Amino acid sequence: MSEGEPIKCLAAVAYEAGKPLTLEEIIVEPPKAHEVRIQIKYTAVCHTDAYTLSGVDPEGAFPSVLGHEGAGIVESVGKDVTNVKVGDHVIALYTAECKVCKFCKSGKTNLCGSVRATQGKGVMPDGTSRFKNLKGEALLHFMGCSTFSQYTVVADVSVVAIDPSAPLESVCLLGCGVTTGYGAATKTANVQKGETVAVFGGGTVGLSAIQGAKARGASKIILIDTNDEKKQFGEEFGCTDFINPKKDLAPGQTIVEKLVEMTDGGLDYTFDCTGNTKVMRDALEACHKGWGESIIIGVAAAGAEISTRPFQLVTGRVWKGSAFGGIKGRSEMGQLIKAYQDGTLKVDEFITHKRPFTEINKAFDDLHAGSCLRTVLDLSK
Ligand SMILES: NC(=O)c1ccc[n+]([C@@H]2O[C@H](COP(=O)([O-])OP(=O)(O)OC[C@H]3O[C@@H](n4cnc5c(N)ncnc54)[C@H](O)[C@@H]3O)[C@@H](O)[C@H]2O)c1
Ligand SMILES: [Zn+2]
Ligand SMILES: [Zn+2]
Repeated sequence: MSEGEPIKCLAAVAYEAGKPLTLEEIIVEPPKAHEVRIQIKYTAVCHTDAYTLSGVDPEGAFPSVLGHEGAGIVESVGKDVTNVKVGDHVIALYTAECKVCKFCKSGKTNLCGSVRATQGKGVMPDGTSRFKNLKGEALLHFMGCSTFSQYTVVADVSVVAIDPSAPLESVCLLGCGVTTGYGAATKTANVQKGETVAVFGGGTVGLSAIQGAKARGASKIILIDTNDEKKQFGEEFGCTDFINPKKDLAPGQTIVEKLVEMTDGGLDYTFDCTGNTKVMRDALEACHKGWGESIIIGVAAAGAEISTRPFQLVTGRVWKGSAFGGIKGRSEMGQLIKAYQDGTLKVDEFITHKRPFTEINKAFDDLHAGSCLRTVLDLSK
């Protein structure tokens, strides 16, 4: 039994921005009160991990254990943990849900204030880290998850138990990308039958927004991507039209003009899943006058700002954002797992690559290949 004892295990440590991760043994301390130690079984690599590792994330801090799209099994729990127990299958949640803070109780948002400040600093709620390398140096946590380690410690508000019959290898993707896009369409936008939708950017997030819009019965779902390889993926997830703005516009025509023309005045909902602020503006301006809503999901470069003419909003367009698809991780993950098991939510289809954990640096290279949606890493190898 490892309960109550430090565990030595393999982790991928980010020592420096712009450098590959270092695979090495680290020490993972036992969980303190209201903390949970998880044996991570599978994790995927998301763009936010690459963004932080690249060094452009102003909140990125090193040395740290990155990773936030992971699933595993509870190895032990600290004092006063009541929501999960040893042996539970779980997904780590970078958007915590405490159920008692002002945010959680508002009924208006999935953001939770309980661990926000310490999570942003890369430490546990008591201000310390549970990770150290074999030289004894403390390693920081990341997004309250740190799934690039065979064992991790998270706050109890940052973990949800799931149906143990759901394959962890697949549902780890519900820890970020798939949930983010699907929730943005079905919850933040709340797309209704017959409405029209445009999704800018056909990565995992955009494709999952497409599947959410399709599940709701949207009449037209247009995918806009500068990479032609995304057309086939888009169709697989339910888009009705595909536009490559680099090739498919008439001379002098803008993407906004093209979309407005295709939809008799503009879309009911648009989603930015690129993180490009110029695209965000186009997405807003392609919305229908009077009611069209544009949802920003993409994470823009540090310091970037958005702009449009105020007239766009005066005339009824709405600009919104969405984090983790507006989904409350502990209350609503069960529904997503069920939808996956029923076959109404596609998850496996996003796994284009699988690798042993030891090839994690190659998984970061995969991200930049147009043909990759998600690489899932098996931490037992
Ligand atoms: N808000 C959240 O909670 C949240 C969660 C996860 C990811 N994200 C962000 O969402 C975004 C998408 O994530 P992903 O994993 O799907 O990324 P991805 O890189 O796999 O997909 C982005 C897609 O956008 C396309 N693209 C790039 N520039 C474009 C342009 N100018 N016009 C049209 N298409 C363009 C790319 O070809 C690619 O297919 C990222 O910015 C990511 O950081 C946000
Ligand atoms: Zn992510
Ligand atoms: Zn809360």
